[in-house]
Amino acid sequence: MWVLAAWVLLGTVTAGSAQLQFNAIKSIEINTNEKNVILPCLVNNLQLNNITFLFVKWKLRGQEFFSFDGYKPELRRAANFSSAKFVSPAELPKGIASLSLDRKEAPAGNYTCEVTESNREGITTVELIYVRSSSSSPVESILITLFMILAIIFYWSQLGVVASKFEVKYKKKVSLIVAGGIVTVAAAVGFILFLSDGFTPKTQAGLGLVIIPAVILVPTLYILLRAVFENNLPHFAIVLVVVKSLGYLIAVVGFALCVSAYTRSHGSVVIAGLAVFAFVALASLIYVIIIGSSMTDHQPPRKAVEEPLNAHIAT
Ligand SMILES: *[C@@H]1O[C@H](CO)[C@@H](O)[C@H](O)[C@H]1NC(C)=O
Ligand SMILES: *[C@@H]1O[C@H](CO)[C@@H](O)[C@H](O)[C@H]1NC(C)=O
Ligand SMILES: *[C@@H]1O[C@H](CO)[C@@H](O)[C@H](O)[C@H]1NC(C)=O
Repeated sequence: MWVLAAWVLLGTVTAGSAQLQFNAIKSIEINTNEKNVILPCLVNNLQLNNITFLFVKWKLRGQEFFSFDGYKPELRRAANFSSAKFVSPAELPKGIASLSLDRKEAPAGNYTCEVTESNREGITTVELIYVRSSSSSPVESILITLFMILAIIFYWSQLGVVASKFEVKYKKKVSLIVAGGIVTVAAAVGFILFLSDGFTPKTQAGLGLVIIPAVILVPTLYILLRAVFENNLPHFAIVLVVVKSLGYLIAVVGFALCVSAYTRSHGSVVIAGLAVFAFVALASLIYVIIIGSSMTDHQPPRKAVEEPLNAHIAT
């Protein structure tokens, strides 16, 4: 009996999925000095994954300018869209029907992508918007770069202070230097890619290189504070680590929003996250400098806490 019920249920589910679904991207912003435009069209529930059963149509203002028939196979494009081509023909069977166009052939407007796989079909629309190259993005890029450089400088300074004032094992020192080196090199390469114009895969990769490896600076802050306080981390030190993690999370969420929306319009979220991140790096640097200067030699501050405690227990 339940087999029958499951069968009926399965039937309704498959009937309901006769539509193809897309990773819908409402709009993309392209810088006017960009050479190429990529119109995204990503189907996420293809079943056959065979080009023979695929049919793709791209339209602008209701007029078809590009079509691909996988059965024949045949590719057609209108004369005034001669540069149109699939971004990745090899990945078409996986549902990537994104189109690459020369910017001069791609007027701003609503582009529709219609995909048919055997008897299932779907349609998605993406609006192409042009932004002038002198948009607000340079300021945002500069702020992102600035906060990240500060966070990295504060990290190295803090490592210097901790290594000179407190006992840090050789192995730990080397791994902290390697960790800092990775973040610094990744960010340097990231800045070079990221500081070019527009929001292309190149600048996205650059921003990713700036932000993602910076996660290393969260555990290293914890390790540095542990080197100072050993097992008695004061609440303030824990708060610093927690706030730094939050700053990092905000920056990553901003980055994810920028990538999924194909624009820099969430750059301010990234900036907010990195500002918190850099601020905590500064606060913790000042903190270890104060702790370090209040000590005479290589004495962890816990000694000062333990002695009165022991005296208390003895009485
Ligand atoms: C796609 O389907 C056709 C027709 O069924 C078949 O001849 C072909 O081998 C399939 N191609 C792949 C890559 O599976
Ligand atoms: C392309 O050419 C067709 C017919 O020649 C015309 O109707 C259409 O408006 C043109 N499209 C663009 C974007 O120039
Ligand atoms: C594209 O479609 C959106 C939503 O339907 C609309 O707001 C916008 O004005 C359209 N853009 C153009 C250039 O027609």
